[in-house]
Amino acid sequence: MGLAKVTVAALGLMGGVIAAPVEERATAAKSCDANGLCYTEWVSPESISYRFAIPSNATKAPFDVLVSITAPVKTVGWAGVAFGGAMANNPLGVGLASGKTAVLASKHSTGHTPPTDNPDATFKMLPSSMTNATHWKADALCKGCSSWGSTSLAPTNKAANLAYAMAKAVPADASKITKHDSKGKFSLDLTAAALTDFDALVTKAMAAT
Ligand code: HEM
Ligand SMILES: *[C@@H]1O[C@H](CO)[C@@H](O)[C@H](O)[C@H]1NC(C)=O
Ligand SMILES: *[C@@H]1O[C@H](CO)[C@@H](O)[C@H](O)[C@H]1NC(C)=O
Repeated sequence: MGLAKVTVAALGLMGGVIAAPVEERATAAKSCDANGLCYTEWVSPESISYRFAIPSNATKAPFDVLVSITAPVKTVGWAGVAFGGAMANNPLGVGLASGKTAVLASKHSTGHTPPTDNPDATFKMLPSSMTNATHWKADALCKGCSSWGSTSLAPTNKAANLAYAMAKAVPADASKITKHDSKGKFSLDLTAAALTDFDALVTKAMAAT
């Protein structure tokens, strides 16, 4: 983990810019849920946990992506992920609490303007999504998050550039989000996100109550 952090910092310097906020840490050790879904995880400075898993047998896009976003209810109204590492022209997933559960809405934007619904990507919610007294957790299977336009994620990429954004204000629903209070880029090791028996585990998790 220490080495990964140094590498990220070094790349930032080589590029002549240091993205703010700087990564707390690169995607790291797997975190497994009660259904045996094991994700690689990145935690934002606001303590939002972004977890990802992809099928271990995927060799190229398109492939399904499991996304799990956990955030503190009191300080995070919505938290999103941008699969292409910037706000515009790539799939965005916007997570938020919804009663006792949580949702991930599929959005996109052509610029720095409020995103609209993205018909090219779908998030199928898992029953493990929930909201309790302290956290909301949005778990979903995304179809359409691994490729967009002429761009795609490579399962062999150890440092895919993703981005996140969050706002403290609690939206009434995903169509009413207000602009982020913070945002930043992070690096995702897709090889670490590879999950064996992906389809069977997802089917099991979808059926769980
Ligand atoms: C009402 C909704 C939104 C508005 C009005 C908005 C507006 C903006 C604006 C004006 C910027 C330029 C920098 C700044 O002013 O901070 C920006 C940057 C950014 N936004 Fe948003 N945004 C919205 C939603 C989202 C969502 C849902 C995501 C991701 C899921 C996102 C991700 C980003 C990222 C990663 C950047 C920095 C990198 C870049 O410039 O692309 N935004 N946004
Ligand atoms: C991966 O394995 C699943 C389950 O056996 C299968 O349905 C799917 O077609 C495989 N995908 C690839 C890209 O080989
Ligand atoms: C609420 O959910 C979060 C995220 O799953 C968990 O870490 C926490 O222990 C839960 N809190 C309670 C009081 O059950």
